[in-house]
Amino acid sequence: MFLVYYFLFFVFGASNALDTIAPNQSIKDGQTLVSARGIFELGFFNPGNSSKRYLGIWYKKDTQTVAWVANRVTSLSDLSGILNVTDQGNLVLLDGKDRVIWSSNISGSMRYPVLQLLDSGNLVVKDRNDSHPENFLWQSFDHPCDTLLPGMKLGRNFKTRMDRFLSSWKSTEDPAPGQFSVWIDSNGFPQLVLREGAAIQYRAGSWNGVGFTGTPALKPNDPVCDFKFVLNENEVYYKCDPTNSLVSRLWVNQTGSIERLILSSQRKTWLHAYSAPVDQCDNYSLCGANARCETNSSRVCSCLEGFVPKSPEGWSLSNWTEGCVRRGSPLDCKNGNEFKIYAGFKLPDTSNSWFNTSMSVEECREMCLRNCSCTASANSDISKKSGCLLWFGDLVDMRLRTDVQQDLFIRMVNSEQDRTDKSREVGIIVGSVGLMAILMVGLILFIRKKKLKKQGMLNSNYKKYKTGDGKEDMELWVFDIASIAKATDNFSSNNKLGQGGFGPVYKGTLQEGQEIAVKRLSKSSGQGIEEFKNEVTLIAKLQHRNLVKLLGCCIQEDENMLIYEYMPNKSLDFFIFDQTRSKLLDWLKRIHIIGGIARGMLYLHQDSRMRIIHRDLKASNVLLDNDMNPKISDFGMARIFGGDEIEANTNKVVGTYGYMSPEYAIDGVFSMKSDVFSFGVLVLEIVSGKKNRGFSHPDHYHNLLGHAWILWKEERRLELAVDTLGESRPPPEVLRYIHVGLLCVQQRPEDRPSMSSVVLMLGSECSLPDPKQPGFFSERNLFEPESSSGNTHSCTTNELTLSTLEAR
Ligand SMILES: *[C@@H]1O[C@H](CO)[C@@H](O)[C@H](O)[C@H]1NC(C)=O
Ligand SMILES: *[C@@H]1O[C@H](CO)[C@@H](O)[C@H](O)[C@H]1NC(C)=O
Repeated sequence: MFLVYYFLFFVFGASNALDTIAPNQSIKDGQTLVSARGIFELGFFNPGNSSKRYLGIWYKKDTQTVAWVANRVTSLSDLSGILNVTDQGNLVLLDGKDRVIWSSNISGSMRYPVLQLLDSGNLVVKDRNDSHPENFLWQSFDHPCDTLLPGMKLGRNFKTRMDRFLSSWKSTEDPAPGQFSVWIDSNGFPQLVLREGAAIQYRAGSWNGVGFTGTPALKPNDPVCDFKFVLNENEVYYKCDPTNSLVSRLWVNQTGSIERLILSSQRKTWLHAYSAPVDQCDNYSLCGANARCETNSSRVCSCLEGFVPKSPEGWSLSNWTEGCVRRGSPLDCKNGNEFKIYAGFKLPDTSNSWFNTSMSVEECREMCLRNCSCTASANSDISKKSGCLLWFGDLVDMRLRTDVQQDLFIRMVNSEQDRTDKSREVGIIVGSVGLMAILMVGLILFIRKKKLKKQGMLNSNYKKYKTGDGKEDMELWVFDIASIAKATDNFSSNNKLGQGGFGPVYKGTLQEGQEIAVKRLSKSSGQGIEEFKNEVTLIAKLQHRNLVKLLGCCIQEDENMLIYEYMPNKSLDFFIFDQTRSKLLDWLKRIHIIGGIARGMLYLHQDSRMRIIHRDLKASNVLLDNDMNPKISDFGMARIFGGDEIEANTNKVVGTYGYMSPEYAIDGVFSMKSDVFSFGVLVLEIVSGKKNRGFSHPDHYHNLLGHAWILWKEERRLELAVDTLGESRPPPEVLRYIHVGLLCVQQRPEDRPSMSSVVLMLGSECSLPDPKQPGFFSERNLFEPESSSGNTHSCTTNELTLSTLEAR
C-alpha cells in the first residue's frame, strides 16, 4: 500500500489527488490532500473575506464549509505557509521565514510515520502499516474546533484529563475560539452543556439511556448516524458513528446555536436537521430553583408542588430568577417524608448530583430516603431501568418535556399542614379523601347529571376531573369501562371503524342513543394516570369547527380510551381516492374542505392556547361530518404519546410515509413546518384525487409531488386536476390551490409558509411566490450516492425512513 502511494506520488508528484504524505514531504500553500473517496480536502484557505491564511480541512463538495483548522489562533499573512512532517511524525507549520506557526507537539515518535487525510475528515499521523485508530500517533479528531464530525468523540478522558469540546469561531473571518463552547460537563452526573464564556447557557441535559433529557434530538438510531454515550472509569463521551453515506455535522455557530446539518449532495446545500437552544425555557435556569418552565403556557414558570416563590413580588413581575423555596419549614425528616413522582420533565441540573450506575431503583429510593439532605432521585438509565441519580439541595433548570418518559421522585414533607395545602393546589381529584372533596364531587355530579340529561347521556358512568392548576375549570367525561364495552357491543368487530396507528377505533352507541367513536389506545402511553388525564384534559379544551370534538376518556384496567363525537361520513381518503365516491366531492366542496383543514391547522398551531403540532396529518385523519365539513382528528396524539418517541416494538406510529417532511423523516425533527408539508401533500391529493405514496406514472418515477412539480415547470399546471372529476373541468382558482400546495411541500422548512400565510393565500387574490423544488419528490432525489461512479454506498431516503419509522 505504502509503496503504491509512493509510486503514485512519484509519477503524479504535482497532482492534488493524494491523501497521504510521508516524512520529509510537505504541503505548500496551493497544494492539497484529498481523502480517498473525495469527501474532505486539506489545504490553505482564507476564511470569508479575510486576507489571512489558515491550514484547514473542508468539504470537497462545499469548500466554504471548513470542518477543522490547525492554526486557529496564529494566522499566516501570506502564501508562504508550508506543512512539514518530521521523521518522528511531528507536524510543523512554518511561514516564509521558517518560524513555527503551529505544531502538533507530539511527544512520542514512530518508526514509519505517514500523514493521511481520512474520509471521515480525520487527519492522522500513523504508522504506514498500521491503520488501527488506537495506534494513531496524532489525530485532528482529538482537537476539535467548532465542528463535531461523525466518529469524533466529545467528552473527557479521566486518565489523560483531556477534554474534547467544541468552540465557536470568533467570526466568519476569524477561526480563533469565540465565546461559545459545547462540553460534556463531568461534574456530578455528566451532561451536555453549551457555555458562553464560563457560564452555562443551555443544558441539553444528562443521558438517560434513551436520549438527552433536555432535547428531543440527538439519540441513538438516528437515521443519519448512531449517537452513543459512553461512561466508564476511563472516559465519558458522546459520539455519532456514521451509519450510512450521508454527510452530516454538528457544530456550534458564532451566535451560540448548536446545529445539526446534513449535506444534500444533489444541491450542495446543508439541510437543517436540528438546532438548540430552541425557546425561552432552554435558557439555563430561567425559572430559578425548584420551579419548572413551560413554554406557551400562560405562566412560563411555576413552582414545584410544595414550593412557593422566594420573592412573590418578583415572581408576579415575571422575574423568576430567585426561584422557589419549600413552603413552611425547611426539610424536616422527623415527621417522615414521601416522594412525589413527576414524569415528563427535563431532569434538573446534575452538576451537583451523585450517581451510581449499578444500583437498582429500589436501592436508590431507599438511599435518598435515608439521607435527609437528598431532595430528589431518578433512574440514571431508563432503558436498563437501573442506576441511581440523587440530588442534594435545590433542583435547577427543569422544564416540561412530555416526551421524556422518566420518573423523577421529589421529596415532600409529610405534614398534615402540607397535605391540605397540596390538595388545594392540585385541585380535587376524584377519590381523594378529604371531606371537602367528597362534598364538591357530590355537587359536581349533581350539576353534571342535570346537564347530561339534556345531552342524553344520563345513565353513563362519568366523573368529573379537574386539572392540576386549580384555575381552569375544564371538565372531561371519564367513562366507565363497562358502559363503553356495552356501547360498542364488547368491542365487536362489527363495530370497528378502522385501525389507526394508535389503536383500533370503534363505533358505539350510549344507552341514551348518542353515537360515539371510541379510540382504544393500543398501549399505555407510558404516562402515569394523572399525567394522561392532564394531557387529555388539555386536548379536550381545544375547540374548533374543524377539529373533531373529544368528549372524554376512559382509564381503567390498563386501558386508555378516548371518546369522540361520531362522524357519519368517515374520512376524506374514503372519498377522494375512490372512483365512485370521489364524484360526490365536486370542486366547490373540495375547496371548502381544503379551507377548513387549513383553518383547523392554524388553530392548532397558533390560535389555541397551547401550540399543537399534529405530526400525522393525512387524508384518513380528516373526518367528514353530515355536511361534508372537514374535522381533523388525532390531534394531540403526539402529545399524549410522548412526541417523537420511536419504538419499533409497539404500534406507536409517529408519522405516515408519503406525508412526512424530509427533516422529520431524516432526523425526527418536528416543527410546525413539518405539518405544513403534510398539509401541502394533502392539498395536492385532494386536487388530483391521487395518493402521493404509491403514485405511478408511465413517463417518470416520481411520486405525486414530483409529478405536480414537473407539470408546474412545464406550464401544464391544471393537468394535475384533469382526472379528478371526469367531465367537470377544474375552475381556474384550483390553480391557486395547486400553487399553495407546492409552496407547502418545498424542501426547506424555512421556505414553506406558515399556516396563517396559507389561510391568507387561499382566501385572497394576492400574488404568490414561485415554489422551489419540493422535498421528497422522488424516492431517490434527496441524497445521492457520494460519487457518480457507481458507488455502492447509495442510500435512498426510502430505506432510511422505513428502517427507523414504522410507515403505514
Ligand atoms: C446560528 O444558528 C441559529 C439557529 O439555527 C440561527 O438562527 C443563526 O442565524 C445562526 N447564526 C449564524 C451566525 O449562522
Ligand atoms: C447525605 O449525603 C451527603 C451528600 O452526599 C453526604 O455528605 C452526607 O454524609 C450524607 N448523610 C448521611 C447521613 O448519610
